[in-house]
Amino acid sequence: MSSQTLAAPARPQPPINPHPGRDLVSIRDLSPIEVESLFHLSALVKARPQDFRTALAGKHIAMFFEKPSLRTRLTFEAGICGLGGSVSFIDQRHERLEARETLSDIAHNVERWVSGIVLRTFAHETVAGMAELACVPVINALSEVEHPCQALADYFTLHEKFGNLRKICLAYVGDGNNVMHSLLLTSAVLGSKIRIATPKGYGPNPQILADAHDIAKNTGAIIELMTDPHQAVRGVDAVYTDAWTSMGHEHETEERAKTFPPYQVNDKLMAGAAPHAVFMHCLPAHRNEEVTDAIIDSVRSIVFDQAENRMHVQKAILMMLVGGKSRQPLRSAHA
Ligand code: CP
Ligand code: NVA
Repeated sequence: MSSQTLAAPARPQPPINPHPGRDLVSIRDLSPIEVESLFHLSALVKARPQDFRTALAGKHIAMFFEKPSLRTRLTFEAGICGLGGSVSFIDQRHERLEARETLSDIAHNVERWVSGIVLRTFAHETVAGMAELACVPVINALSEVEHPCQALADYFTLHEKFGNLRKICLAYVGDGNNVMHSLLLTSAVLGSKIRIATPKGYGPNPQILADAHDIAKNTGAIIELMTDPHQAVRGVDAVYTDAWTSMGHEHETEERAKTFPPYQVNDKLMAGAAPHAVFMHCLPAHRNEEVTDAIIDSVRSIVFDQAENRMHVQKAILMMLVGGKSRQPLRSAHA
């Protein structure tokens, strides 16, 4: 036996990300051309899913969810499997992500095992922090501030219905929440027109609004803010609403139930929109609160088209970020 001491093997280096910073934390991470390419790829994968069966072959995705989910979880899981990848779902509903160890330690573990991370978190800082720390792509599956996958699927659905998004107007009525922020930013990126009616004190985050106005300067988007829901829906092509109380705000439910009833989407409100106007909701819906049964179950409602498109659009997002077709960096597009 040799008395020579065994040399310690070189410490393995973290994998080098060939496409650093390819995350989707905010709609602000996307340029207009990237959203257009994303919609193009979404349409292709929707029309011919069989052509994309191996796009994520050999890739494993980890999903950490601090909040409940039906649509986002299943559309990601079905989408990843449909692209030939594999997925682990980690239920974080009983313990925030950073309760056991630091976000940095989690990031530097997980990046060694998987090709991408999908996060649904309370704090936006958690998903933004993971994107900064992990050297694999990170996708925001809903945070306190944004729900980018939702808004991209929604505008893809509007594109299917109406074609040119520069020629349509969407009215969002209700709470100035994560979904509204992502819709606002997406309309800005796409050069579309959006009207937003919220009660006083429930408007958009000022930074998101300022960023949307900045983007709109280049794209020609029109953003109008108001408090009157009837004024907002006048003549529009699409009326969108969401829960009056988002996850994490349950303690405010009673207070909000006093403020929001004038923002209910019902026959009277819908009557002010264009005759061809569609009704949209990210779901889950609180029937006969923010929307009546008569509207959500009407022929004008496209809520299940939106839900279906979550999967097609997320497949395209995954291919662009983790595997697939595009090699365009998606970060800092507006820098
Ligand atoms: N719209 C949406 O994100 O639904 P889930 O909360 O069920 O994922
Ligand atoms: N604004 C809602 C969206 C749910 C998909 C929430 O955050 O609870």
